Amino acid sequence: MSIEFKYISPEETKPLRQLVLRQGKSIDSCIWNGDHLESTKHIGAFLSSRCIGILSLFNNKTEKIENKSQYQLRGMAVHPEHQGKGIGKALVAFSEAELKKSGITSLWCNARTSAVSFYKNLDFTVSSEEFLIKDVGPHVVMSKTLT
Ligand SMILES: CC(C)(COP(=O)(O)OP(=O)(O)OC[C@H]1O[C@@H](n2cnc3c(N)ncnc32)[C@H](O)[C@@H]1OP(=O)(O)O)[C@@H](O)C(=O)NCCC(=O)NCCS
Repeated sequence: MSIEFKYISPEETKPLRQLVLRQGKSIDSCIWNGDHLESTKHIGAFLSSRCIGILSLFNNKTEKIENKSQYQLRGMAVHPEHQGKGIGKALVAFSEAELKKSGITSLWCNARTSAVSFYKNLDFTVSSEEFLIKDVGPHVVMSKTLT
């Protein structure tokens, strides 16, 4: 399976955000504040010409970690037909390499509690108590140093 990783537009994230992360919600709920900022990066994983995985990188900071050189990982989603095949892991690895090229040394996310093991597997650690994001569910902040 040959997967290509490339930068995509905010609009290109919408179908997978809706299918995987905002099931049953409007397409308007799939465009977020900051999506169109120049500092925000959206990355897609492509099988042939089909986008089967996405994530977004926001120049946002959390007070839960001390490092000032931070980016936030958001909108991590892999098409249900392609989950469990290493695509999410490879998307994060590609993104970490891109961030490191820009001198970013810390990556964090609000992880759904159902995805904590996925992030732990990628060397993220839990950096907060559990909290609730309205309409989405329980989360924790997770973070890792990019070495
Ligand atoms: C979570 C998600 C992004 C993971 O992507 P994926 O392509 O399915 O994951 P991968 O196949 O790359 O898995 C990488 C590793 O994490 C493990 N893993 C993946 N999802 C996991 C989960 N939910 N719980 C525990 N472990 C998980 C895999 O077993 C694999 O381990 P290995 O490297 O030892 O074989 C994907 O399943 C998804 O889109 N889920 C629904 C949306 C979601 O929860 N997004 C995250 C919001 S914070």
